[in-house]
Amino acid sequence: MLSRAFKPLRQSSKFFSTSAFGETRKESLLWFAKATAGSALLGFAVTEFVLTDDRMESINNSWDSLLNKTEEYGISLPFRKAHAFSTADHGLHPPHFPWEFDKFYKTFDHAALRRGYQVYREICAACHSMDFIYWRNLVGVTHTEAEAKAMAEEYEYKDGPNDQGEYFMRPGKLSDPFPRPYPNDEAARAANAGALPPDLSCISRARKGNMNYLFALLLGYTEPPAGVNIREGLHYNPYFPGGAIGMARSIYDEVVDYEDGTPNSASQIAKDVSEFLHWASYPENDERKRMGLKFLAVTSVLLGISIWWKRHKWSYIKSRQVVYKAPKVISY
Ligand code: HEC
Repeated sequence: MLSRAFKPLRQSSKFFSTSAFGETRKESLLWFAKATAGSALLGFAVTEFVLTDDRMESINNSWDSLLNKTEEYGISLPFRKAHAFSTADHGLHPPHFPWEFDKFYKTFDHAALRRGYQVYREICAACHSMDFIYWRNLVGVTHTEAEAKAMAEEYEYKDGPNDQGEYFMRPGKLSDPFPRPYPNDEAARAANAGALPPDLSCISRARKGNMNYLFALLLGYTEPPAGVNIREGLHYNPYFPGGAIGMARSIYDEVVDYEDGTPNSASQIAKDVSEFLHWASYPENDERKRMGLKFLAVTSVLLGISIWWKRHKWSYIKSRQVVYKAPKVISY
């Protein structure tokens, strides 16, 4: 009876009408209806008769005093009091702009990175350092090796000691970091009315919203709304937490001249420099996406093979039917 033994097992219709609890569908629906009605009734009773206003107040008070006590001792509980939130305190959330490189299969626009570097060099580098970016990092990304070398040589770096034990100045090399605008943080603060221009090497990574925040911030300067007083030397920008930023607006139409003829509108300039700063924070972006696509391509083939292999190995077991054949009753 080989053909019978290999007949595929039919799943009975009962299989489909049974819930995870082992009951039939009708039974579990009934169970669900009872549970809903019961908990609604219980909830009503508890809020109406047990948690009266007076009792709620005393529960809240004791919870508050417990929170205050634990905070006094430096322990915080997982359930904290919600603190008041206002957009003025946290900064306006930047919109999500349609960046081409943000798509999972797209790389940076390297012409934009090159323009962004130019904007950083001509405008932002007057106040902001980028300590973690070295001239060699530009090679093959925004500039050729010869161009990067020539740009590095325009700056003098302190080196030494030489044979006489003296420090000397020499032109920059590919292995040097970008030069700093100020010798130290104190000098930077002194030149900017007390505000420290942060290092921009990782600024996109360091701010919520990444390049969206940078773009929104750079172009977000407006007149302060009625009733908001901005101190002398500060500027109103709704995207900056607190609203008052120590950096003046620095991007306007035509503040840089692009060598590739791209229109130099303020938004184009802000977009290019934001993309450049995002590259500085995430230089592995292109490589990461390329590896991710390779990974998906290889694993999807492997997935197909493993599904086929599993079905092949289980086919005998899945298509087997165990049959009980009653012995013939022999009656005398
Ligand atoms: C005149 C000097 C100056 C120039 C030029 C300048 N900045 Fe700033 N920037 C500052 C100062 C000062 C701060 C700190 C502001 C503060 O903390 O209130 C700052 C802060 C920032 C911040 C941080 C904001 C935050 O969330 O903390 C970013 C990002 C920034 N600048 C980007 C740029 C970019 C990009 C450029 C070039 C287009 C630029 N800045 C040009 C002085 C400058």
